[in-house]
Amino acid sequence: MNEALPLVVANLKANKSWQEVSTWIDTVSPVCNTFTGTIIFCPSHPFLTSSAQKIKSTNSKIKLGAQDVSCFEQGAYTGEVAASQIADLVSFAIVGHSERRQNFNEEWPILQKKVANAQAVGIEPIFCVQNDETPIAQNVKVIAYEPTFAIGTGQTDSIENITKVAQNLKQKGDYIVLYGGSVSKENAKSIANDPVDGILVGATNSLDPQKFMEIVNSLL
Ligand code: PGA
Repeated sequence: MNEALPLVVANLKANKSWQEVSTWIDTVSPVCNTFTGTIIFCPSHPFLTSSAQKIKSTNSKIKLGAQDVSCFEQGAYTGEVAASQIADLVSFAIVGHSERRQNFNEEWPILQKKVANAQAVGIEPIFCVQNDETPIAQNVKVIAYEPTFAIGTGQTDSIENITKVAQNLKQKGDYIVLYGGSVSKENAKSIANDPVDGILVGATNSLDPQKFMEIVNSLL
């Protein structure tokens, strides 16, 4: 992982048309020129190719990420997207988000396979854990601590607890640790501080590119 910290990840979830995704890239790209960290943009799979083309053609510094990868490699897996199919488009992939754990019963060993498949083709998994006891797949470098009570609720975890969980995670390995769950422009700066290496911003404040920019600006 060579990207500069802090990492600021935008997870758009199952939202937006291509036109809106395109506008998002246009709106957020300029702030990358002043931001010393890294913005990782995760739109839905159908928009990865066009987003990658747009980022390249406009010389944007936004990095592209997928919201998920399949636990299978290419083959007879209708509806799935194999890591190798998007390897030339994305640098990162979110794996183990609690919404996938809950809605799609994703558990160990599915998550291990997803991580391994992503790593095999050079995609850096952003592995989501719900607490400091959640098992972490092998060779993961980037972890996002995302307590489920904080996701989409406006109820951020306390700075004290975020710090404690990040410290505990870092004791388990040489991890880059992000926090996600109701991050806003009001709390981003106090959260994205040592030992926390960045933030994961979900639908609450990443869908509106202006709101997302305000979060990045608060870190400048
Ligand atoms: P939120 O989502 O920012 O809307 O709380 C975070 C996430 O789902 O990763």
